[in-house]
Amino acid sequence: MGFHASVNGVVDGLPPGPTRPPWFQALGWALRPTALLRECEREFGEIFTLRGLVRTDGMPYVFVSRPEVIKAIATADRDVLRAGAARGSDLFEPVFGPSSILLLDGAKHLRQRKLMLPPFHGERMKSYGELITTETERRMAAWPRDEPFALQEEFQHITLDVILRAVFGFDTGPALAEAREHIQRWLHMLASPAAMVPFIRENFGPGRAWSPLARTRDRIYASLYALIAERRTDPHVDERDDVLSMLIGARDENGEPMTDDELRDELMTLLLAGHETTATAMAWAVELLLAHPDKLDALRADLPHGDEYLNAVIHETMRLRPPIPLFDRMVCEPVEILGYRIPVGTVLACNIVSAQRREDVYPRALEFLPERFLDDPPETYAWIPFGGGVRRCLGAAFAMYEMRIVLRMLFERTEPRAVDLQPSHYSRRAIVLGPRSQARVTLAA
Ligand code: HEM
Repeated sequence: MGFHASVNGVVDGLPPGPTRPPWFQALGWALRPTALLRECEREFGEIFTLRGLVRTDGMPYVFVSRPEVIKAIATADRDVLRAGAARGSDLFEPVFGPSSILLLDGAKHLRQRKLMLPPFHGERMKSYGELITTETERRMAAWPRDEPFALQEEFQHITLDVILRAVFGFDTGPALAEAREHIQRWLHMLASPAAMVPFIRENFGPGRAWSPLARTRDRIYASLYALIAERRTDPHVDERDDVLSMLIGARDENGEPMTDDELRDELMTLLLAGHETTATAMAWAVELLLAHPDKLDALRADLPHGDEYLNAVIHETMRLRPPIPLFDRMVCEPVEILGYRIPVGTVLACNIVSAQRREDVYPRALEFLPERFLDDPPETYAWIPFGGGVRRCLGAAFAMYEMRIVLRMLFERTEPRAVDLQPSHYSRRAIVLGPRSQARVTLAA
């Protein structure tokens, strides 16, 4: 990699990184992402370049983990650093759909974001509390006693049904069951780490091994179109409080509603962005609490008094085990970062994992210490599991609220005991990093 320093000492080009072939780096990223980040951090420090990740066009990824730099990236001019362009690859577009808020930039992104924000705003979102409680109760009633089972899977059922009801507005019944079945099959296919490796996608991609994936997605699309059509003609749509009904009623500045294809892609996006991430964060919380019985005791002691310790547990869990390891922006005009002039066509990856383990921000950073968040709320750009700036996660408040309800119910009503606890071993499901042992527990009879 040839660098040359410019006159003012800024290096024109990319920061150093591993010299192993891109396909090898891609495999490392798919199979052992956190270990790869740790190794690079040890060798290269807080900025380094990885190649061959995720995209088939071979664009380099520059990882950074210094909070001030992450703040500058998240709040930069959105035409200079674009989130949609960074994600708009052959991997994400067939999955989320071309109109997905995640893949848009500029005015188009702002329009969708404004249309989608109201249902996720503070008080509005709290109306989903009852639904979250009911779904958790329904699932809990069927949990086995004295027999190991994976809580992560259970959390996934809960968060999926919550999205299907709160966002799509399915009532319980056959339509919900059918949608759930197709979606679960599709998610299972998407979860393979192989999907993260560009050369595997190129050689076995759409038209080959992936065609069942496209067929299943088309079935889901068919039921979404039917749902949208039904809701558009529902005379009582104004009285409904699901997100889809609100999106159908929403109008942009020109008085235009969202089209069916936009609605379809945003529903898919909310489904994909919203359920596995939240379920995984809860699974990590359970693993960390069971591995630290003194913290679990402190939580149980505080639960009758409110959410203070519970909130600290959730913040600390998402610091130490963020479900999504990075958030990214495409460089569309050269930018200077930590002494490097980064060229157009580079992806800047804000390194969530490493930024949240900095000893200079979080003393004893590798330890699980919820107390650190009891008096001090997380610092905006040193605690970034939901990203930042105008692209910050739209569902962050929803996710935090859902986690509080489900974890409270779990620890108030049951006494889970750990089975094969491995709270430091990861496994990847698509872009989400979860605990390898999936929070396997037994409940006392
Ligand atoms: C623990 C759970 C969750 C985590 C860790 C998480 C994480 C993230 C991250 C890292 C981003 C990218 C932010 C950026 O680029 O700055 C994001 C974006 C997004 N998330 Fe979440 N998320 C979670 C839950 C949810 C939920 C429950 C929903 C909705 C139901 C949701 C909907 C979205 C949407 C729509 C975006 C795109 C925002 C945009 O591009 O403007 N997420 N999320």
